[in-house]
This record gives sequence, C-alpha cells and structure tokens, in this order.
Amino acid sequence: MADQMSNPTTIEERAKALLQEMTLTEKIGQMCQLNASEGYAPDYLAGDIQSGRLGSVLNVVEVNVVNELQRIAVDESRLGIPLLVGRDVIHGFKTIMPIPLGQAASGNPDSVREGARVGALEAATTGVNWTFAPMIDISRDARWGRIAESLGECVLLTSELAVAMVEGFQSDDLSEPGAIAACAKHFAGYGAVESGRDYATTNIPETKLRNVYLRPFHAAINAGVSTLMTSFSDLNGVPATGNEFLLRQVLRDEWEFDGFVVSDWDSIRQLQVHGLTENDKESAFEAVTAGVDMEMAGDAYSSHLAELVEEGRVSISGIDTAVMNVLRTKIRLGLFEKPFTDPDELPPIANGWAMETAKLAALQSVVMLKNNHAVLPLSADKLDSVAVIGPLADAPYQQLGTWIFDGDVDLSVTPMHAIHSLVGSDVDVRYVRAMENSRSKVSAAFDDALEIARDSDVTILFLGEESILSGEAHSRADINLPGDQAELVRRIREAGKPVVAVIQAGRPLTLTNIVDQVDAILYAWHPGTMGGPAIAELLFGIESPSGKLPATFPRMVGQIPIYYSQKNSGKPPSWDNVAHIDNIDSRAPQTSLGMAAFHLDTCFTPLFAFGHGLSYAAFDYQHIRASSHQIRLGNTVTISAELTNNGNVAADEVVQLYVRDLVANVTRPVKELKGFRRVHVEPGETVMVEFQLHTDDLSFYGRNMQRVTEPGEFHAWIGGSSETQLKTEFRIVDST
Ligand code: BGC
Repeated sequence: MADQMSNPTTIEERAKALLQEMTLTEKIGQMCQLNASEGYAPDYLAGDIQSGRLGSVLNVVEVNVVNELQRIAVDESRLGIPLLVGRDVIHGFKTIMPIPLGQAASGNPDSVREGARVGALEAATTGVNWTFAPMIDISRDARWGRIAESLGECVLLTSELAVAMVEGFQSDDLSEPGAIAACAKHFAGYGAVESGRDYATTNIPETKLRNVYLRPFHAAINAGVSTLMTSFSDLNGVPATGNEFLLRQVLRDEWEFDGFVVSDWDSIRQLQVHGLTENDKESAFEAVTAGVDMEMAGDAYSSHLAELVEEGRVSISGIDTAVMNVLRTKIRLGLFEKPFTDPDELPPIANGWAMETAKLAALQSVVMLKNNHAVLPLSADKLDSVAVIGPLADAPYQQLGTWIFDGDVDLSVTPMHAIHSLVGSDVDVRYVRAMENSRSKVSAAFDDALEIARDSDVTILFLGEESILSGEAHSRADINLPGDQAELVRRIREAGKPVVAVIQAGRPLTLTNIVDQVDAILYAWHPGTMGGPAIAELLFGIESPSGKLPATFPRMVGQIPIYYSQKNSGKPPSWDNVAHIDNIDSRAPQTSLGMAAFHLDTCFTPLFAFGHGLSYAAFDYQHIRASSHQIRLGNTVTISAELTNNGNVAADEVVQLYVRDLVANVTRPVKELKGFRRVHVEPGETVMVEFQLHTDDLSFYGRNMQRVTEPGEFHAWIGGSSETQLKTEFRIVDST
C-alpha cells in the first residue's frame, strides 16, 4: 500500500495526499464504474483496474471474484486504491424483507433499520461494500412501478425511514465489519414522472421540490449517507444527471454534502437521448460540470474527460473535487486497511435473527383494510375446513417482490405452507390455485375453486400482482387486480361463505370492483421471505394487524395523483357540494353540479386514506391537547392524546400526528404528518401519547425560497389515520 497513506491522519489529509500522487488518468479512473459479469473477473476489468482506470464495479457478488478484483487494485495498480463494489440491496440480500413500500406501512424505524442491517451484513459477505439504497423518491402515483421500492407518499414518513435505512446499512461506523455505504436515490423528483411512466419527464415547481421531493434527501444527508444517485428523468427541462441546480446549488452549496454523486445506469450518455447534448463528449461535459462524480456503467467519462481537461473546458480542480468525494468514501469505509473479505468473519446468511427480522417486518407491514363483522381473526378451534384459493397462495418467488437479484427463493415460506403448519391437522385446508398467474384470463379452474369454497367454512383468496408487474420500468395504466381475478372473486362469492382476501402487490391497487365482494382484506404488499408465517399469524389472530397505509388507495385510476397532503384549493369538495354522474339531470344548469374540486364520476375521497389500517383491538382516541395554545417562535409545543384499547386483545397501534398551517405566503397542505409512533396497548389500557413539535418542524419554503416558520394559526390532529377528526389548535407568535 502506498506510503503516503500512513502519515496523514484526518480523512481529508489522507485523501489529499493520495490525490497529489495521482495522474489525470488515475483521477478519472476513480470517477468510473463498470458492470462486472458475475462468476469471473473479465480481462478488460483486470486491465482497467491495473492501470488505475477503474475505481468501482457493480453487480459482482462472488466473494472470490471480488477479492481477486480487490487484489488487482491493491497489489497491481500503481497507487493501490481499493474498489467500491456496488449492488442493489434494496430490501434484503438473501433474506428478503417486505418491499420498501411495505416496510413503510410498519411505521417502525427500528425494524426498517434492522432490515437494512440484515441486508448489509449478508451482502458484505460477498465483498459488496456499497448499496444503491435507500430509494426515497416521494411517490404519489400508484401507476409508477417503482412506487414498490419507495417509502410512499409522505415527506415525514419517507424522511424518517430513509434515515433508519441509512443507519442500518452504514451502522455507526462505516469501517465496522458488515457496514456498507448507502446511496440515497434518485436525486431528484423521479417519483413525479408524468402519468407514472417510468423515466418520463418531471415538472415540479421549486417550492414543491423543496417542500416535498428534496426533504428526504436532506434528511438522509444529515444522517450521513455516503452517496447519492441521480435520477434518470429530466426535471423542469434539465435532466437530473446534468442538473447544476440540484447537484451544485442545493446539494453542495446549501447542504454541504461531502460524499459523492453517482449517475444512474448509463444516464450520462442518455443526456444525448434526452436531447440535451449532441454526443457523449458533451454529455460527459454536462454531467461533470453539473457535479456527477462517478459514471455508472457507461464510457462517457473514460473516453472524454481527459480531452475535456486538456482543452481547458473542464478544470483540473473540478476533477479533483470529484475524486476527493470518492476517496473520502473509500477511506471512511476502511477499504485501505481492509480491502479483502472473509465471509467467515461475518454472521451466517439467513440466520435466526435475519429470519426473525424478516418475519417481524412482514407482520408489521400488513394492513387490514376492512374486516366486516369481525370475520377475522379466524379461529382454528372453531373451523373444520378452510379453502385456500388463488395464484399467490403458494408462490415463493412472487412474494419476494421486485429487486431481489440475490434473494434466495428457497428460503421463502409461503402462506399456504404457513397456514398448514399453523393449523396442523385440526383444520382441513383445501387448496386450488385457480389461476396460473395473476394475469391469467383462463377461468377453467374456477369451478374447482368454487367447489372447495362451498365445502369449506371460510375462503382465503390470495390475490394481487406477481412481482414482475411492479419495479423499474414496470408501470401500469390500469391498476385493478390483473387478469380474471375480479371474476374469480365474484364466482367464489357464489359459495355464500365468508371470504377473506389477502392481497400481495407492489403498489396500491384500485380495489373498487372487489371491495364489497369480500368480508375482509389484508393488504400484504410483497411481504418477502417470511411473508407466509406473518400472514398466517395475522389471519389466525396470533398477532393483530398493525400496518398503516403509506400511500393513498384511489377508487379509480383517474383520481391520481390523490394523496392526503393535498392543497385545499379555493373550492374544496364536501359531501354537500358534489354531484354524481348517475344522479344528474342532463338539462340542469352548469352551476348546479357542485362547483368544487372533484370528479363527477367518482367520490372526492380515496377508497382508503393514507395512514388507514385496522386492528383486532378496538382503539379509541380522546382528549387531544396542546401544552400551550400560544407558542413563541423557537419553542416547542407538546401535542398529546389518550389512546385506549377497548378490545380484548393486546395490539400495536401506529399513532399519527397531523398539522395544518392555516395561512401562509404559499398555500400549505390540508394535513401534514408531523409525527408517528408505534405503541403497544394492552386490553383495557389507556396510554398517553405525546409528540413534541418545535416551531422549526413547521417551517416550509415560501415564495422567496427561504425556509421559514410563519406565525399564525395551526390545527393539529392525533389519530389512527389521516382521516382523524380529533383536533386541537395553537398559535405561533413572534419571538419578539
Ligand atoms: C436503476 C437504479 C439502480 C441501477 C443499478 C438502474 O436502472 O434506476 O436504481 O441502482 O440501475 O442496478
């Protein structure tokens, strides 16, 4: 290893000392990342690493190959700089947690942190030292396939869980064994792609960008995230990968981020496809000038940066800044001290703790959307037979969801198996798959399904989407249950027995056409490796459902974007001022139809609101109060309420605090989540739940793009969903 690494002490000094030794070629090498084929170290990589032309690889997960690549970097390159080895560890590595959207439903930062830790430790056994997660794009469009990877629609929920994920991946000290660098992505605005079409254009006014889309990234940076990835999309006309406003003004000047920015896959060369540049050389120029420090899976930097420097168009100090950003991360990871991986020094893959973490995450992520006549929980003592029907009852791969390159499908425990082992021989469990997959339009087996439904005490229908229907580039224009599933529900209804739907999906689906046909719905997202046992324990009441929706469920796709933190508008709809297309007189005057912000052919409310989620307990909220009704700027108010469990089972509840700023210099949302907490409440117990709210927590970016908390009236609500009506009020007054 180079001598200059031993003397200088601080990270900055070490990086600088190394930088001084580097040739331009070696510097540019640190700004390049290439895809590595799995299973061997191809010659082109070895050659590039030897000559210092490559600083990072992705998608190699064989520890021997990674160690060999590191050996070439450390022993055979002139300066011995180790490699960053990247991989998408999005919701687990071998042991798969629920999809991130499901994890968000748990409202539990501890379990999200733990899930990321499991993923980091498992990935680290292969030599991977950098994950491309968390994905923290605010997602308010269920058509977008990548909503599955996101933490939902809410700024606060996404920000807090983003921080938890970063902490889980990176741990307290990046150089600890099993800690890996995290990457907050995709910077920024990607979740706002037009009509939910992946990669499409985004147009976001700056106040909205700052108040909504950027905030989770700022939170991740404050939590020490090592890297950021740019978005594929253009933002207000400038592709994110060439966007100086985002990458310089906001990220570096305002937030003082000192990690590095990686492009998305080949997104530098795509600047040409966007129509921003004429060729790869100009794309390299735009990206490097904007502030992209590393190119992923492309050759614009390796082919053109040197020439751009020689021509004087790109300054060497610009290159140095980028390289310093990369070197800092490598030093923090302890790669210079420990470039090689010995898997035996790390916990075994899929150990008991990993499986327990996956199970708890799945248990807490399932949302009970409805439960008519308390059909759930089922009681194994009272049932003789159960019909298990549907394409996702016994689909070990599908339950893992999107982005599971390394997931071990053999570890999956399906609901079908879990139900069998939970009820044992006490209950006769009959199974008909009924459909080959979720998209099938072949109904030949529906008669068999109906027959077992008729002969059983209750039917559990396992519906939803296969994993391939969500994720990157897997957007849908119609988000009903695919294939003939609605018809299957209708047929099963004919049996006249209670029907419970368990839905596994990568997005909120429009359930309007089945919601009244079933007695209960458990929404399980794609619940991961341990989805089966979690679902079985919830169905049979071993545990109570406690998940809360992290995204609004529209009644129909045309309502999108529909989210809880909408603006009031000048003509808000209410039950008194809306008409319905079925009831209107065709000769009625235009103004009689309700002059309000709504659609004539559906309700103005969603099917299920953000934060909704039922329980087997009976929760009652009362006595909301503000510790003071007048708060000076710079102070804190405590908002509290009593939560009583009037039911007869102990359960967790995710308590939510919402606030509205009534008057401001830009219009503010009708409700914003300002706090959430998972609490455990025993039957008959009353707990006091308190949230501290500092006046800074109520700040926003106004017309002049400055962050401000404006004195004035505020409303605050506490409850079990965004529809809570339990309200108090307070006023913020000037500190002078
Ligand atoms: C995705 C990124 C991902 C990268 C590497 C891209 O297509 O947009 O989120 O990290 O591929 O796999």
